[in-house]
Amino acid sequence: MDGEWQGRTVLVTGASHGIGRAVAETFASRGAGVVVHGGHDEAAIEAVVTGIRATGGRAWAACADLGRADACRDLVARAWGEAGPLAAAALCHGIVRRGGWPDVEEDIWDEVLAVNLKSVFFLVQAMAGRMREAGGGSLVLVASMRALEGAPSSPHYAAAKAGVVSLTKSAARAYAPTVRVNAVSPGYVETRLQAGLSPEQREDIIRGIPLARIGAPAEIARSIVALAGQDFAYMTGQTLLEDGGRI
Ligand SMILES: NC(=O)c1ccc[n+]([C@@H]2O[C@H](COP(=O)([O-])OP(=O)(O)OC[C@H]3O[C@@H](n4cnc5c(N)ncnc54)[C@H](OP(=O)(O)O)[C@@H]3O)[C@@H](O)[C@H]2O)c1
Repeated sequence: MDGEWQGRTVLVTGASHGIGRAVAETFASRGAGVVVHGGHDEAAIEAVVTGIRATGGRAWAACADLGRADACRDLVARAWGEAGPLAAAALCHGIVRRGGWPDVEEDIWDEVLAVNLKSVFFLVQAMAGRMREAGGGSLVLVASMRALEGAPSSPHYAAAKAGVVSLTKSAARAYAPTVRVNAVSPGYVETRLQAGLSPEQREDIIRGIPLARIGAPAEIARSIVALAGQDFAYMTGQTLLEDGGRI
């Protein structure tokens, strides 16, 4: 639907880098004001905000580690207070801490589950309630193909992402009909999460992808923005797998 984001405001978490940054820039290019959230890297957040403003867009910076419920509530309250009401939010923050079954210690389990799953619950709780009171809104969560296929080298990460798929269903039912909640499960995407791959590992990965390449952040971003919008007005509780055909 042309022009639907013009004059509206959205929150994008994890927008200082990678997929979230591409989502923030895509929303901005379509006329939305964007609350640009990042976890720690204030310079990267400012760079995204400055880039959006340089093209005539509206943007606000927000830095918060989302590993605690109060930080999630505080981010939503600040975003709503400074830029709201928010028409949509895309929750793109996340961390990977690799480690197989024998290696994952309790602190790593807790960190990965707190940042990748607990935060999603408390952000949705804070956001969807406000959106319902304001008359409507749309949330898009970011899970992973690992939610479906598991990950022997990161079982804690895969479990957190499976939890995000489950929260998508639960939230969609809880907040319907005023708020829609959907998710995207990316496969391999060209962000700093893939920066440590050796050429051999990269070739091996690409051999397993029918579309024969790693995805671009902008491709995932277009799907996230589309799911948030009115073209998907009759869809809620769904998770879109976007992995080049890998699974
Ligand atoms: N790239 C892939 O192949 C892939 C595949 C499947 C799913 N995903 C998922 O897609 C999402 C985005 O990943 P990406 O590849 O774009 O990663 P990325 O480039 O590393 O960006 C991650 C973002 O999350 C933020 N973040 C990290 N720790 C945080 C914390 N404790 N509190 C709040 N924010 C925090 C980062 O901010 P700071 O840097 O400022 O801390 C950054 O903005 C994640 O949920 C990831 O699990 C990615």
